[in-house]
This record gives sequence, C-alpha cells and structure tokens, in this order.
Amino acid sequence: MLSGMSACATLVGMKVLGIESSCDETAAAVVADGTVLLSNVVASSMDLHAQYGGVIPEIAARSHIEAVMPVITQALDDAGCTWADIDAIAVTYGAGLGGSLLIGVLAARTLAILKNKPLYGINHVEAHVYANFLTSTPLPGYALSAQQPPFPMLALIVSGGHSQLALFTDHFSYRLLGQTQDDAIGEAFDKVAKITGLPYPGGPSISKKALEGNPQTYQLPKARLSGKYDFSFSGLKTAVLRLAQEIVGKDFTLPSSALPGLLSEAQKADIAASFQRMAVETVVDKTLLAVEEFAPRSVVIAGGAAANMELRRQLSARLPFPIAYTDPKLCTDNGAMIATLGCFKVARQQATADPYSLEIAPNLSM
Ligand code: KG4
Ligand code: ZN
Repeated sequence: MLSGMSACATLVGMKVLGIESSCDETAAAVVADGTVLLSNVVASSMDLHAQYGGVIPEIAARSHIEAVMPVITQALDDAGCTWADIDAIAVTYGAGLGGSLLIGVLAARTLAILKNKPLYGINHVEAHVYANFLTSTPLPGYALSAQQPPFPMLALIVSGGHSQLALFTDHFSYRLLGQTQDDAIGEAFDKVAKITGLPYPGGPSISKKALEGNPQTYQLPKARLSGKYDFSFSGLKTAVLRLAQEIVGKDFTLPSSALPGLLSEAQKADIAASFQRMAVETVVDKTLLAVEEFAPRSVVIAGGAAANMELRRQLSARLPFPIAYTDPKLCTDNGAMIATLGCFKVARQQATADPYSLEIAPNLSM
C-alpha cells in the first residue's frame, strides 16, 4: 500500500479538501485535479439513529461536533498531505439539516481563515453527480469509473432527500428536467423498510431482502404525473402499507408497529422485491424518456440509491449504451464528491465564498 507521504509527493496538481456534514455522515476527503481520490474518511452516526428508524437532527449535530476535526485530520494524513499541500477547501453549505450543515461550514470557515485557503461553498446535490468524475486512486477497495463522463451528460440523482433528473451541457451549466413531487426514492425505501420491519436505512435492507423474494408477486401502482420528467413515490409507499394490511387481514386500526410481526419472512421478501421493482422502474422510465429526447453522450447515476443493484441492472438492460456509476461507497454521502466539485470550481475560476460570512442554506435546490 502506498504510504501517506508518497501518495501526496507522487501526484502533482491541485488538491482540494472536501468537507461534508449535511446529514448523519461527517466526512472529509482530499481529491487531486478533480480526478484522483487521495483519501476518503467517513464517520457515520447512523447506528445512533437506527433505533429511531430515521435521522434525529440533534443527535446528528452533536456527532458532527465530535467527529469533524478528527475526520479532517485523518483525511489529510491518509492523503499524505500537510496543510501546505492543500490549495482550497470545499464545504457543503446546503441542502441538508441546519444543525448538521452548520458544523461543517463553521469548521471550514475557521480553517480557511487560519490556514489562509480559498473557500468554496458546495451544493450537496450537484456534488453527488461529481463522484462519477473520480477515475483513479491509490486507495485499495474502490471501483471507479474508467473515464470522466462526456457532455452532454444526463444525471439521475437518487438519494434520501432528492430524486432529480438534470441535463448537464458542461460543468456549471445544467438544466433541471424534473424532480420528485413528494418523497425522494431513498425516503420511500426507508419508509417501506419501516412498514415491513426491516432495519434503517431501508435502501440496503430492502434490496438485500428483495434478493429472497419474487418481484412479480404483487402488482403495485406506478405514479402518473403531469410533468414529463417528474417523479412521485408517496402513492407507492401508501400502496405498500395497504398491501401489508391486506396480507395480514387487518385494517388501518392496527398500530403500524404491530404490522411487521404479522408478516412472514417470505411475504416481507416478496413485498421488498415488488416495491423495489416498481420504484426502480419509475426512475428508469423517465431516464429513458430523457435519453430519447436529449440524446446525451453519457448517463450517470448519483446519490445513495445509485448503489442499488436493481437500478443498475434495469438501466443497463434498457439503455442503448452503458451507464456510468461509481463505487457504492461514493454513492452515499462522502467528502470526495465535495472535493471533486471543489476542484472543478477552482479550475473553472468559479466564485469563492467569504470565510467570514458563508451561511448555510438548508433548503438549497439545484
Ligand atoms: O445520498 P445519501 O447518502 O443521503 C442523502 O443525500 O439523502 O442517500 C441516503 C439514502 C437513504 O434513503 C438510503 O435508504 C438510500 O440512500 N440507499 C439506497 C441504497 N443504499 C442507500 N436506496 C436503495 N438501494 C440501496 N442499495
Ligand atoms: Zn446525499
């Protein structure tokens, strides 16, 4: 394995430290030239939230306070970098939980002043797309894209907070084609996991359970929306709840916490598989429509749900050319995607943020 010092010494180019704290992951990474991943450190407070079946904002914020400096120090160490090697700091300033965002932003602002580095504010959702621009790393255990996706690039962003289709004609030049009108797809996975008694987060647990089930067992509804590229997942989630109630022969008067105990493991697996098939089909249908209309040169998937193997399988089967996706570790929240977009901001001379005044933007949209 490459030692820390040699990793930084052998790679010339511009290096950006990325800091991410928008939800329950405290993450930092160093990326060189928007393409080489030098380090990627993630401390998650997920285990603390799992018992509640969702992220508790106060617990997340407190965990960020404890983790932020150790994570940043580790990211520099793993990259073999000192502060002198870092050309800029990039930090998520939105969208996300207010208390969580604040910790990363305040840390980044302070470090930018103390270490005299330019600071870049990063839109978390845009950054998810940029995980696909990483093509090499001295770190073991990463399966990265072979090449950076060419423009025009269609991006399907599927995470716990967002479901969006965007068409990029170049860096910093994109059009939002459509988005979810209610729940995000990852949120729907999380809610269906709760209905069926599977652990939080629902994405990995539903997809694992689905492997044991038959995706054709239950015919769940597909949302019809007026916006050509818009999504909806709340009807599907409600349909799963009704289906589970029907299977166990109880109506809505049964407390939802009692429902999973009445479902057999086989029924849970069939529900998981049928739900996953329909949720994935919903986003794949829209992606194909956009491919037909805009003829992009690449299609990338990004965000936590981009780690979903059924999504990758359906897209690969139905698209006329290969999709680009990155290592599952870079699909969920991480600092590498923040640092990568930061590199492109430096290279394209985008505006820096004022370290004395950069504010968080919890509701930032694309
Ligand atoms: O991108 P992310 O880490 O955080 C947000 O920006 O929201 O995404 C987290 C979401 C969670 O809702 C989780 O259930 C979902 O991504 N997720 C998945 C999978 N792995 C994580 N959804 C479907 N399939 C997966 N394998
Ligand atoms: Zn995210």
